[in-house]
Amino acid sequence: MRYFISALGLAGMIGLAHAAPPPAKSVAFAPPPFSAMPGQAFGAEVKLGENIFRHTTVYAKGIIGNDLNCSNCHLDAGRLAGSAPMWGAYPAYPAYRAKNKKVNNFGMRLQGCFAYSENGKVPALDSETIIALEAYSFWLSTGAPTGATLAGRGYPKLATPPKPATYAAGEAVYKANCSICHGADGQGQYAHGQTVFPALWGAKSFNWGAGMGSIKNAAEFVHANMPYGAVGTLSVQQAWDVAQFIDSQDRPQDPRFVGSVAGTRAKFHNNKFSMYGETVNGHLLGASK
Ligand code: HEC
Ligand code: HEC
Repeated sequence: MRYFISALGLAGMIGLAHAAPPPAKSVAFAPPPFSAMPGQAFGAEVKLGENIFRHTTVYAKGIIGNDLNCSNCHLDAGRLAGSAPMWGAYPAYPAYRAKNKKVNNFGMRLQGCFAYSENGKVPALDSETIIALEAYSFWLSTGAPTGATLAGRGYPKLATPPKPATYAAGEAVYKANCSICHGADGQGQYAHGQTVFPALWGAKSFNWGAGMGSIKNAAEFVHANMPYGAVGTLSVQQAWDVAQFIDSQDRPQDPRFVGSVAGTRAKFHNNKFSMYGETVNGHLLGASK
């Protein structure tokens, strides 16, 4: 597989996890195959990073607070284009992030996914967990230019839905296309203590501060990557509807909670893509724990 790199780096500069506009100038890039993983001490660190990424519930047990592996959202262990691949991210940092209003290096960006997507503790920048994930991502980016925007970074852009997304339409899409794997109750499926199909809401899933909690991110991810094994079968409308449905379910509290749901909504969720602080089916989202 070959990916193309834009010389513009626009999306990287403004810190979005989305592909840049059509590349003006592009060069081919492909991440190395797993068989090319180096040996020695550095190779051991890369391998540890891959293990943490694939089996986060085992290798980062005690750090994370849910049952999600990094690779549940960054598919093919962070290699798949259009699934926020690590080779697309690594060369794009340091970058300014509106989320914490400062320039973040790559390690700080990893810390963000621990805090929100993994609902966990934040490992120190010089911890083995962060260094191993950096080594793995650095290795996946072998040969990629720094500061360029790699096509395939983040999620593909998705058109706005023809009709406003609704919970009811999303529920129907979910029942027909998703519940067989993720469960009627969205709690996922497990075997021998390992996550087989990840939870989409509730205590085992990402918290209210996570990127996937944005209906826009979820719609883009789902349209490009789900249903697993049947990508391309959902219409744009269906992807927005099902994202609306998933992100209207309750999940662990935003760790930035300021003491009230209304206050937390005003400070961190004051946009049309977050359901935090909205009432759905008589339930105030964000009010549980
Ligand atoms: C629940 C799904 C989910 C899980 C689990 C998850 N992430 Fe993410 N991650 C996302 C989303 C969504 C984004 C894009 C967020 C945005 O645009 O705000 C993202 C973005 C990133 C980025 C930046 C990508 C870029 O192009 O700038 C990195 C790096 C990253 N994640 C690493 C990790 C690591 C490492 C783990 C495991 C410790 C992890 N993620 C777990 C959903 C997830
Ligand atoms: C055939 C089984 C299957 C079906 C059907 C399926 N998924 Fe998934 N889904 C998965 C698997 C497996 C993963 C994790 C990918 C991995 O680890 O490689 C996943 C990951 C996800 C994630 C990111 C992880 C998380 O917990 O948030 C979301 C969101 C998601 N799926 C939504 C959907 C939606 C919405 C549908 C229906 C339109 C759907 N899936 C249909 C198997 C499935």
